[in-house]
Amino acid sequence: MPEAECCITVRNIGPLQGEVFVPGAKNAVLKLMAASLLADGVFEIANVPDIADVTIMSELLTAIGLRIHRPEPDTVVIENTGDLTPVAPYELVERIRASINVLGPLLTRCGHVRLSMPGGDDFGARPIDLHVKGLEAMGAEFKFAHGYLEATAERLHGAHITFDFPSVGATENLVTAAVLADGVTIIDNAAREPEIIDLCNFLVKMGARIEGIGTSHLRVTGVERGRLHACSHETVPDRIQAATYIAACAVAGGELDLLNAQPTHMAMVLARFRDMGMELTPLPYGLRVAAPDRLRSTDVATLPYPGIATDYKPLIITMLSVAEGVAIVTENLYPGRFRYVEELQRLGADIRTDGHHAVVRGVPRLSGAPVKSHDIRAGAAMVVAGLAAEGTTTISGVHHIDRGYDDLVGRLRAVGADIERVPA
Ligand code: EPU
Repeated sequence: MPEAECCITVRNIGPLQGEVFVPGAKNAVLKLMAASLLADGVFEIANVPDIADVTIMSELLTAIGLRIHRPEPDTVVIENTGDLTPVAPYELVERIRASINVLGPLLTRCGHVRLSMPGGDDFGARPIDLHVKGLEAMGAEFKFAHGYLEATAERLHGAHITFDFPSVGATENLVTAAVLADGVTIIDNAAREPEIIDLCNFLVKMGARIEGIGTSHLRVTGVERGRLHACSHETVPDRIQAATYIAACAVAGGELDLLNAQPTHMAMVLARFRDMGMELTPLPYGLRVAAPDRLRSTDVATLPYPGIATDYKPLIITMLSVAEGVAIVTENLYPGRFRYVEELQRLGADIRTDGHHAVVRGVPRLSGAPVKSHDIRAGAAMVVAGLAAEGTTTISGVHHIDRGYDDLVGRLRAVGADIERVPA
C-alpha cells in the first residue's frame, strides 16, 4: 500500500510478551553509506535496517555514481568505481537530512562538491555553520548561491578544530574529510555517539588513521587517496528503536527480550527508565525488559552523548504521561522539539510546555483519538501512546515513521499488540 495512503491503528489490549529483534541504526548506516564515496571497491554493509531513509540515501549515492544493490533486506552492497559526479541535487537532499554527510567525503575525494542546502525539520532549524567553519579551517572555500553550496579545495589540509557544540553531523563530516587530508586534523569537543564510533571503526577498516575513537578528542592523520580501500562492516544496533520497544512495554505492561540491543550504548536513558520502575536486565544477546504495574515520574534533560538523546524524548514524555507523579522534561538540543505534545494532549495527556521545558502530570490512562506523526520519533511516540490509550488511536503521517523504523507494526504485533496498517 503506498505510504501516503496509510494510517496505523493501535488499541490497548494489555501486556506485551516475547522477543523483538532490534535492527541496525539509521543514524549509523546512512553515514557508512556516505563514507563509501571515499574509496574504490565493493563495500558490504550488514545489519542494515529496512527503512525509507536507506532507500533515499541509495538513490542519492546512485545519482553521484555509486552502484548499489540489496541482496538481502538487511544487507547493502555498494560498488564504487571512482566515476563520481560530486553533485547532490535538491530533489534528493530535501528528503533526507543525512545527505549533508556526502559533503566531507566528496570534497576530500573529488576536490569540489555542489550540494543543495539541507532544509530544516518539523522540530526546528538545522544549521550547518559548524560543518562549514571546520572545512574552511582545513582549506575549503565555500560559495552559496541559488539554494546550493559549492565547496572547493584541491587538497584539504590538517587543522585544529574546537567545536562550540559537539555536533553529530559536523563531527562526521570533518572526520570523513580529514581521512584523506594532508597532515593531522584534531577535533576537540567532538560528538561521541555510538554511531560516530561505528563510522570511525568503518573508516579504520578502510585504512584510515584515527585516534581517540569514542572520546571528544579525535586525531585524524590523513593518508593518500589510493591508501583507502573498500571493506565489510556490520552496523551498530539502533538504540532509539530499542528504546521504542522499552517504551511500548513500559506503557502496555509485560516483558520483552530485545535481541541485539546494546545496553552499554544506552546507559543514561536506562538509568532513567529504572528510576521509572522498569526492570532492565542485560543479556548476552540483548536486554530483558519488564514493566511495573505503574510507572513513576522522574525529571529528564536531553544532552549530547553520553547524555540522554533528544531522539528519546517523545518516547519518554509519552511514558511520563501515564506515570504516577509530576516530571519536568528539559530539551537542550532543539528548543522547538515539542510539537507532538499537542497530539498527546488530544489523547488526554496533561502536559504544559514553557520554552524548552515541559511539565508532565501523569494520568492513569490516555484516551484513543486520531493523531498525526510530525517526524520519525514523534510518530513512534504516537504508536506507544496508542498502546497506553483506551479505545482506538489512529496515527497519520506514517511515512515519517517508515523513514526510521523497520516494520514497527509487525514487530509490535508479534509480541501481542493490537496494531495494524490500514488505508487512510
Ligand atoms: N547545530 C548548529 N550548527 C551546526 C550543526 C548543528 O548549530 O553546524 C546545532 C543544531 O541546530 C542542533 C544541535 O546543534 O541544535 C544538534 O545538531 P547535530 O549536528 O548534533 O545533529 P544532526 O547531525 O543534524 C543527528 C541525528 C538526529 C539527532 C541529532 C542529535 C542524523 C541523521 N540525525 O542530527 O536524529 O536528533 O543528531 O542527536 O544522524 C532522527 O534520527 O530522527 C534525528 C533527528
